[in-house]
Amino acid sequence: MRLDDRLETLLADMTVDEKVGQLGIFADMLRPFAADVNPEMNELNAGELRERIRAGQVGAVFNGVGAAQGREAQRIAVEESRLGIPLLMGADVIHGMRTVFPIPLGEAASFEPVLAERTARAAAVEATACGLHWTFAPTLDIARDQRWGRVAEAAGEDVVLGTAFAAARVRGFHGDDLTADDCLLATPKHFVGYGAVIGGLEYNSVEISEGTLRDVHLPPFKAALDAGALTVMSAFNDINGVPASAHDELLTGVLRDEWGFRGFVVSDYTADFELVAHGFAGDEREATKLSFTAGVDMSMQSGLYATHLPDLVASGEVSMDTLDEGVRRVLAVKQAIGLFDNPYRSLDPDAEAALDPQALHGELARDAARRSIVLLKNDGGVLPLRRSGQKIALIGPFARDRDNIEGCWTLFGDKSQYVNLEDGLRAALDDGGALTVVDGSGFEDAIDGGIEAAVGAARDADVVLLAIGEPQNYSGEAQSRTRIVVPPAQQALAEAVVATGTPVVVLLRHGRALALHGAVRDAQAILATWFLGTQTGNAVADVVFGDYNPSARLPVSFPRDSGQQPLYYNRQRTGRPELPDMQEFKSRWREMPHGPLYPFGHGLSYTRFEYGPVALSADALDWDGALTVSATLRNAGDRFGEEVVQLYVHDRVASRVRPIRELKDFRKVALAPGEETTVSFELHRDQLAFTTRSGQFAAEPGLFDVWIAPDCESGEAVQFTLRGA
Ligand code: BGC
Repeated sequence: MRLDDRLETLLADMTVDEKVGQLGIFADMLRPFAADVNPEMNELNAGELRERIRAGQVGAVFNGVGAAQGREAQRIAVEESRLGIPLLMGADVIHGMRTVFPIPLGEAASFEPVLAERTARAAAVEATACGLHWTFAPTLDIARDQRWGRVAEAAGEDVVLGTAFAAARVRGFHGDDLTADDCLLATPKHFVGYGAVIGGLEYNSVEISEGTLRDVHLPPFKAALDAGALTVMSAFNDINGVPASAHDELLTGVLRDEWGFRGFVVSDYTADFELVAHGFAGDEREATKLSFTAGVDMSMQSGLYATHLPDLVASGEVSMDTLDEGVRRVLAVKQAIGLFDNPYRSLDPDAEAALDPQALHGELARDAARRSIVLLKNDGGVLPLRRSGQKIALIGPFARDRDNIEGCWTLFGDKSQYVNLEDGLRAALDDGGALTVVDGSGFEDAIDGGIEAAVGAARDADVVLLAIGEPQNYSGEAQSRTRIVVPPAQQALAEAVVATGTPVVVLLRHGRALALHGAVRDAQAILATWFLGTQTGNAVADVVFGDYNPSARLPVSFPRDSGQQPLYYNRQRTGRPELPDMQEFKSRWREMPHGPLYPFGHGLSYTRFEYGPVALSADALDWDGALTVSATLRNAGDRFGEEVVQLYVHDRVASRVRPIRELKDFRKVALAPGEETTVSFELHRDQLAFTTRSGQFAAEPGLFDVWIAPDCESGEAVQFTLRGA
């Protein structure tokens, strides 16, 4: 690529050390730093970092916060370094900055990409006011194994849902103008396949077919780039034996040659250095060479590029052209967000002081949170509760807790604004005194007399809200689990409380799909509440008391047992499909039915929706044509409600075995009581395409089933034919 004259002149003037400097990002030791998130690799102290910036040896800094100190760092770069190239300032702003929104998995349950766009925009406004230009988000890893802790950070198990959220989040972070003060540069990550680590074990290897890689894991990245993303983060894992951070076929072949990506790739935290531990590089020098020449332009935190690239260039093992190309990409991104014209953009202490996150985004946070809550079960219509005239016992370790509200990836949340369950519920009650609160148990350990107190409170109450689940450090990076269950101490609490016979509503807290057992599974009602962020208590109260009628749906399958993992709805057909009556020599588990406890797409409402039969505009889809698939939807209950209408397809015969069903489209539809509408989707050939046996991305003519349904397991299919060209 060629930059404009100004930048080409700058490049021509740069020494090798200065060029290499642009290719390094280091922990921001000059400002308050979120130190607890990454391993201790940083050997630089603030003084050394300042010196390096002055020497032009730092391209970017990360995970520090504060406009005033950021401005000072930028001043050193711009005024005291020889060439005055501004720094890029990044951080992990994954689901909110000061205002914390639901974890991305929870927000995906809304099935409203437009909501994710709004929360990403809000995060961008707050983050840029606090002195940041760049976020390491969105996380786009499709995760089909709930043992993996980073399921929490992305949009779940499905590629169509994940793709829609990927594009929405990039649009939201960027806003309309890349050079605006409130544009936060997005970084789709982790490229690629990280969500498919074997056994759900963090940092593990990935063995994956070309077809699954291309059809499931790559599309969210393509969508994010199409939405304008200018940086990408390479992953830690290897893919079929080649580490993602040295994978030239993917980093250069796919990303640049196939997709035309012109931004830069940043490694994940020391992922270049880790090529040595992988046994893929013999030493750090070789790791540098492999990573850089594969297409990782910027090295995060290891310092390897600074140490070894100059020598690799001097020896000719890395050409000056290759080095220049990496530098051009970084400079081009800095230019794209306006840093050369206005290096102090997003570094305004007055803007930071004036920022009032609560006033700006409190309502959005509450709405996003309640739109993420999934009503899994509501036997006997125990929910919604009345605001008065009944005694409610709020029991469980999450009842009063404030340390497990934000979820796994919030570095800079304003904890003073967090609303816990007790406060939210009490505020919503006509008589706050009707709420009794008992911890009952710790997160992992029983507490003395806890169960007795909980049982007493449950006996005394008309209904129990049981606030249990995973503490927040059970999900996120490096938090793989073998048993994805409610911790035993809390399970014991649930058994005792449910045994009282008082109706129980489980308020489940979780960063992944959980396997629910015993009293938790059998409680009258269950709300999947993920980690909802700042407005947790208010949002739960909105749903519990019916001010908001739940409309979220599961973006991940809830298994019956941990041992079913990986369990995902769009599995391929087998030669011996499972049958309902558990016959021998079929694909089945010995101990339990094949499927999930709650399927992908599942979620109840306080009203009832009725679907009419699926109608097609024709019985065949022409090669270049469109097919309209529609069904009537009626709100047959007595409340306003929103339904997530889902379009699924199944390819009957193909050159590669196809999934039993695949989501192709979805729409959230709002209906008043008694109201009916027709929901229509247009289907085109490209939505039926997949990586065929011959390696083409193409649709194959033939017969297809299609459903319009409330989840991935229900509905009646109708058939259409895709006609050949
Ligand atoms: C994580 C990334 C994150 C980076 C910087 C790594 O450990 O895998 O997702 O962006 O640290 O904090």
